[in-house]
Amino acid sequence: MSVPPGKLALPELAEMKRRGQKIVMVTAYDAPGARFAEDAGIDVILVGDTAAMVMLGYEGTTVPVTMDEMLFLTRTVARAARRPIVVADMPFGSYQVSDESAVTNAVRFVKEARADVVKLEGAGASLSRIRAIVDAGIPVMGHIGLTPQSATMLGGFKTQGRTAEKALKLVEDARALEAAGCFSIVLEAVPSPVAARITEAVSVPTIGIGAGPSCDGQVLVYHDLLGLSEGHLPRFVKRYANLSREIRDALEAYAADVRSGTFPSAEYAYEMDEEERAAFEATVRS
Ligand code: KIV
Repeated sequence: MSVPPGKLALPELAEMKRRGQKIVMVTAYDAPGARFAEDAGIDVILVGDTAAMVMLGYEGTTVPVTMDEMLFLTRTVARAARRPIVVADMPFGSYQVSDESAVTNAVRFVKEARADVVKLEGAGASLSRIRAIVDAGIPVMGHIGLTPQSATMLGGFKTQGRTAEKALKLVEDARALEAAGCFSIVLEAVPSPVAARITEAVSVPTIGIGAGPSCDGQVLVYHDLLGLSEGHLPRFVKRYANLSREIRDALEAYAADVRSGTFPSAEYAYEMDEEERAAFEATVRS
């Protein structure tokens, strides 16, 4: 695939790992979010299937979001993001059935939604999907640890790799993802020492979310870090703003102004030439 002008080249992420320069990734789901991320110098934007929860109102699960919904969101982000690499998250059901349908759906993300790369969850059965998509010329980001699409199988949204045996399995899975062709791997909700060993064990960059400071990069969900999501948040989320408070305050102030007649005051209204107005009033009354 050709790289659009100004776009961060994918091999640069591996270079950043070699240089010890941290990779910054954030999710975004619309054009303003993509522009804010780009202006902040973010390297990678993930159009995550967390959209199910933070954008589309599905409670506590990423499973229901569809290909069409993810294509729509990815298209809006890709239109606005120039330098950051845009990752499309393949939704549940879009790659589980067969290698063939996984390739077909990955191609749709690149061709119709203009994503640069795709992400899919898991090792195991996902390995052959990853090989097939990479063979089709589409770069793949892996995702292990807590994989929300299989949260039911994992017993809920829980930290993964807490026993020596399970931690070792995660190291093996990461190696298998690298061998299958992943250019980068997301590690979600994994104890810091385990993420540190995985980061040493693979030559591709690891991007952590709840995986401690040793990963090659970090990702957070846009709505979580900006304080737009409400209710329980995982321990690994650091809030950098409280925008939901600001939005509520602004909407309440607007409603109060409208009800009291304070808005719109003269500065927000259009005036008319006095002569034209007089002529208009004379005509309209007759
Ligand atoms: O969908 C998403 O936002 C993700 C991140 C949590 C890594 O997969």
